[in-house]
Amino acid sequence: MKTESGTPIENQPSALAGFTDIYAAGNPPWDIDKPQPPFIAIADQVISPLLDSGCGKGTTSLFFAAKGYQVTGIDFVELAIQQARARATERNLSVSFLVKDAMTLTEWDAQFASVIDSGLFHIYPAGKERQQYVQGLKHVLVPGGRLFLFSFRDHPSAPGGGVSNQELREAFADGWEVESVELSDGEMNPVFAAEFPNAFPKDEPIMWFAIIRRTE
Ligand SMILES: C[S@@+](CC[C@H](N)C(=O)[O-])C[C@H]1O[C@@H](n2cnc3c(N)ncnc32)[C@H](O)[C@@H]1O
Repeated sequence: MKTESGTPIENQPSALAGFTDIYAAGNPPWDIDKPQPPFIAIADQVISPLLDSGCGKGTTSLFFAAKGYQVTGIDFVELAIQQARARATERNLSVSFLVKDAMTLTEWDAQFASVIDSGLFHIYPAGKERQQYVQGLKHVLVPGGRLFLFSFRDHPSAPGGGVSNQELREAFADGWEVESVELSDGEMNPVFAAEFPNAFPKDEPIMWFAIIRRTE
């Protein structure tokens, strides 16, 4: 994935700088102004209050807010949150959009019945950072609450290499039940797709959609 300056995101001085650069350039590759397809398919399984972790410009948050859900969206990029708030105002929808680092969830006293992660989890490499994020998700999710996770799978075209089915299950081995993991198609921003038509294969799914329940 390239930033405005043409530098691969993994070579940016920090992830925050890299993501800020992408939002400043406009048309982030993932921003399709509607939820990724599996979130639409499972919408009736989601329970309020809902956290959209790594919400970007608020696409998925706003979809659920329009359905009457109580939604909080967090992202560590201030510009993304400004753009999400502007979209909410334009659409006359109420969402609590907060600038917050998802690595600090264990320090937050908020509680949610459902969490959505559309493209954040796969950013963390296996190991300490990924575990810290998963611990934070457990902290903010009520026991019995569900995480709905959309993540790159392990595929050569996945930025950062993606996440294998086994790695995904290992990350949620302690205090979670992985209810389902299915291959899923993803959609790209049309401007990005036109510029980089071969960025991702068209004939095979390169995403996972997982439903994971906090058990304890
Ligand atoms: C692939 S984008 C997906 C955005 C949005 N969920 C969507 O589907 O349009 C990943 C998002 O995670 C955010 N992000 C990355 N690391 C983060 C962190 N540590 N804390 C909060 N947000 C983070 C990025 O700024 C970016 O908006």
